[in-house]
Formats: sequence, C-alpha cells, structure tokens
Amino acid sequence: MTFYPGQSLADAVREAAAVLSEAGVPTPRVDAELLADHLLGVGLGRLRAMLLGDSPAPEGYAELVSERAGRVPLQHITGVAYFRHLELRVGPGVFIPRPETESVVQLVIDHIAGMPSPKVVDLGTGSGAIAGSIAHELPGSEVFAVEFSSLAHAWAAKNLEPLGVTLLQGDLRNALPEHDGTFDVVVSNPPYIPAEAIPNEPEVALHDPPEALYGGGADGMELPTAAAASAARLLKPGGFFVMEHAEVQAEWIAAHLRRTGHWTDIATHYDLNGKERATSALLAKTAPDE
Ligand SMILES: C[S@@+](CC[C@H](N)C(=O)[O-])C[C@H]1O[C@@H](n2cnc3c(N)ncnc32)[C@H](O)[C@@H]1O
Repeated sequence: MTFYPGQSLADAVREAAAVLSEAGVPTPRVDAELLADHLLGVGLGRLRAMLLGDSPAPEGYAELVSERAGRVPLQHITGVAYFRHLELRVGPGVFIPRPETESVVQLVIDHIAGMPSPKVVDLGTGSGAIAGSIAHELPGSEVFAVEFSSLAHAWAAKNLEPLGVTLLQGDLRNALPEHDGTFDVVVSNPPYIPAEAIPNEPEVALHDPPEALYGGGADGMELPTAAAASAARLLKPGGFFVMEHAEVQAEWIAAHLRRTGHWTDIATHYDLNGKERATSALLAKTAPDE
C-alpha cells in the first residue's frame, strides 16, 4: 500500500480504491470515499468537492482501508447502516440490513396506510431495521419486535428505543403468546439459508452472525416455516403476513402456506432486481377444516 504522510486526499482515495478493488470489494471507489468521509464527517458531496482540491488525507485512513481490504463490512467499520429513512447503529453480532428488505417494509406500509393504529410485530428484528422503519414512517402504529440473540437484541435496543418500539428478547416460535390473535401485521425476514449454502462474500460468511443466516434444516426452511406458524397464531382474522426469503424458496413457501389452509390471497413479490424475494398472505377468517 502506498499511503504516506502528507498525501493528498485525492491520491489517497485513488490508492484506496485500487487496494479495495484488488481485495475483491464490490464497490471499491464508493467504499474508499465513504471511509474517508467517516473520518472527515463532511458528507459525500463536500468530500467529492474536496477531492478536486489539494486537501490532505485524514489521519488513520490507511488503517481503515486495510481493515476493509480484509473484507470487514463497511458498516462494521463506520458503525452505521442506512435503511430507508433510518441511520441504524450496527456492529459485530448483528445482521447488516439489506436494500431488498426495504421493499418488504414498503409492502407493510402500503397495507396499513390509512389504518388508525395498526398493531405490527417484526419477528427476528436484528438491528431493528423493519420494526424501526414502520414506527418511524407510520407514527400512529403500535410496533413490537422480537429477537433471540442477546447481541443483536442489544443493537436493536439502541435503535428502537428512541422510536417507541416494544422490543422483546425471545424465540419467534413462541413469542408474545399473550398477544395471540391481536396483530394486524406480522412481518419477518427470518434466517433462511440452507445449511450447506455458505455465502461466497467474506463480509457475509465471516461477519454476519450465523444465527441470522441459516434457517435450519437442509433446505433452510425451519425458521421461515416457524415464522409462518407464529404469524397464524398472532394475527387477527384477515391480518397480513409478509416474509422475505430467497428467490428459489418462493414457490415452496407459497405452496406451504396454501397447504396449511390458514391463508388466503397468497402473493409473491419482487425486489428491485426483479427477483421473487417476499411472500404475503392474509389470515383466513375461518379456521381450516383439517
Ligand atoms: C436475516 S436476519 C434479519 C434481521 C432484520 N430483520 C433485517 O431484516 O435486517 C434474521 C434475524 O433473526 C434472528 N433470529 C434467529 N433465530 C431466531 C429465533 N428463533 N427467534 C427470534 N429471532 C431469531 C437472528 O438473530 C437475526 O437477527
């Protein structure tokens, strides 16, 4: 690495982008700029203006670039993840929220917009991205969030407390029994990766917590199936369930929901890349015959 004292910001960012590209980071130039901005705190627009002049590189920049070149997630270095309108605090022990989950939140918001005080629960909240966004964007809603991992729960507490979300540490399989049959919406982005499908990106494989990734069982469907069963228990008749999943799981999940006999209006939804990444359904108003 050819960082040196007194180096200009423009040269250091150019060098950093080359180092990150060599390390296989998918967006090297943006990451190089965001790391510089993390130290300078001026915002990307001003940073890009500074890159046109002869500002010096900030102290400590080479160290952050070297960490990122080791494929530590950018958000673990900066301590922040941006999700819809929220700036979430994140770090080791919590799943970094992903852009495709923003579309899942939109499905919830579209469904409950206009309801006076919808009651919503997010099962497996992680950083609190889904629950926090709903509470923030629909201030009249009553939002609950459930998280099993004590580390993730601690991150969620930092993010959700200011937003008035009721956060519980517990298992989505049996959480909130005293609220059975009372929710308007159950939303979940549960772990769903099959046991053998270890992700390729080091940021995910080595830094996202395993309990946030692997859904249980060879096909990864144990926790998604459990989330659907809990949704059937927690929702009011006619209540809305939406769950994120892998593209290849869409058909199986829709068929599973149909088989249980609990659901109507089962629908698959696309993310911004046109992939089938979420399924929604309404809880039937009458119990299944079986
Ligand atoms: C894929 S992450 C999603 C986190 C967050 N909802 C998001 O979309 O960014 C799944 C989350 O479910 C949590 N989890 C795993 N098993 C759980 C269980 N049995 N009960 C509750 N939460 C669980 C994990 O710790 C993790 O935070």
